Amino acid sequence: MKTINIETAKKTGQKVELAGWVHSRRDHGKIIFIDLRDRSGLVQVVFSPDKENVYKEAETLRPEWVILIQGKVKERPRGMQNPKITTGKIEIEAEKLEILSQAKTLPFEVDKDTKIVDEETRMKYRYLDIRSERMKNNLDLRHKVISFIRNYLDKEGFWEVETPILTKSTPEGARDYLVPSRLHAGKFYALPQSPQQYKQLLMVAGIEKYYQIARCFRDEDQRGDRQPEFTQLDLEMSFVTQEDILSLVEDLFVKLIKTITPEKKITKIPFPRLSHSDVMKKYKTDRPDLRKNKKDPNELAFAFIIDWPIFEYNKDEKRWDPCHHIFTSPKKEDLPLLDKDPAKVRSWQHDIILNGNEVGGGSIRITDPAIQEKVLKLVGITKDQIQARFGHMLKSFEYGVPPHGGIAPGLDRLVMILANEPNIREVMAFPKTGDGRDFMMDAPTKVDTNQLKDLHIKTG
Ligand code: AMO
Repeated sequence: MKTINIETAKKTGQKVELAGWVHSRRDHGKIIFIDLRDRSGLVQVVFSPDKENVYKEAETLRPEWVILIQGKVKERPRGMQNPKITTGKIEIEAEKLEILSQAKTLPFEVDKDTKIVDEETRMKYRYLDIRSERMKNNLDLRHKVISFIRNYLDKEGFWEVETPILTKSTPEGARDYLVPSRLHAGKFYALPQSPQQYKQLLMVAGIEKYYQIARCFRDEDQRGDRQPEFTQLDLEMSFVTQEDILSLVEDLFVKLIKTITPEKKITKIPFPRLSHSDVMKKYKTDRPDLRKNKKDPNELAFAFIIDWPIFEYNKDEKRWDPCHHIFTSPKKEDLPLLDKDPAKVRSWQHDIILNGNEVGGGSIRITDPAIQEKVLKLVGITKDQIQARFGHMLKSFEYGVPPHGGIAPGLDRLVMILANEPNIREVMAFPKTGDGRDFMMDAPTKVDTNQLKDLHIKTG
């Protein structure tokens, strides 16, 4: 196995085998210097003419070729050391060189920040874009965040349970992506807008503490903080109060930030719990930016927004829409208002906001089938539709349902803010463009007519 580049810093005097990409090449007199790049960073390799065969090969090297090197780790002469990189005090005296793959000239330079490159080109060659240091660091940060979350929740007694991607519509306010069924002509699966119904059914199933790093799919107009598929830390707990959920998420975020991005400072701990009506009055938005100094890239102002109205009036459709989703429980004291004055009913919804972004939403859920039916009717879902779309949920509540609630922080948005990036595409390996395309894979794309026939689909 090859040695990882940055580990050579501790191996002065030893022989090592290294492999990676030619990041850059400089010829000084008769000596060839290569910066060899692997995932961990750069290391300088030196080829001198007295090792004739290796030197000859080294003369052919070009940027981004993939090579394997054997050589000796030596301390660099004084004055030649580079304190900016981990391996800046050493260099590798090459004794053997093997060229594993040559490379054409890249469509853009990856030894510089690729932000200046046109986005279509970056997306088309995303596998090259990710070679750049900023993109690699963003994926590393994302990995560390997810790995921390998994360890934390494991210690707190949560089980990670996977739920289906081929499923039935779970409304979260967007259009569904549909998948036609081959075996059932004219029928469709929907990709989940979130695992909402499954996680509630897992509570009925007695799992008590569930989480999932869950992929969600929503066909909606895109913005910098919205992608058609994105990732949530989806979690749900039984026998809890809203405050239990909020303190768990707060503790998780505080510890995560302290461990992974210690340079960041949280404005206020405990995170303020602000009521929706106060926030709307004071800031005219439900996700105010509460930073003390908005120019400080390392300030993180979290807050929970609570006491939401359960409905908002949809003027276009002339009906009540849920502020969060249809499974959100009204507050007990407001129940009598459900029939009389739905606008006044408050719910157990909670959002978590960070620097003016909505980074999570959740609620305590309805567990009384009669209240669930009433809410569904108020948002304009007919009795027949209720049975067809949510009959399984209502039925499950008849077999012993624990009180439960949860939340789903959006991981792309969280990592975007921790990485000081302006949009979530910068922290996703393979995001879609603004109009929902994948330029690299060329998706969406036309399909074979036979495939359509199998799926019982006629296109115009
Ligand atoms: P909600 O719809 O509020 O709640 O989503 C939770 C969080 O997911 C993120 N998010 C997105 N991120 C990127 N692209 C998108 N298109 C996108 N849409 C949402 C946001 C948001 O706060 N099932 C409920 C959760 C629950 O009740 O437990 C749900 O999905 O950060």
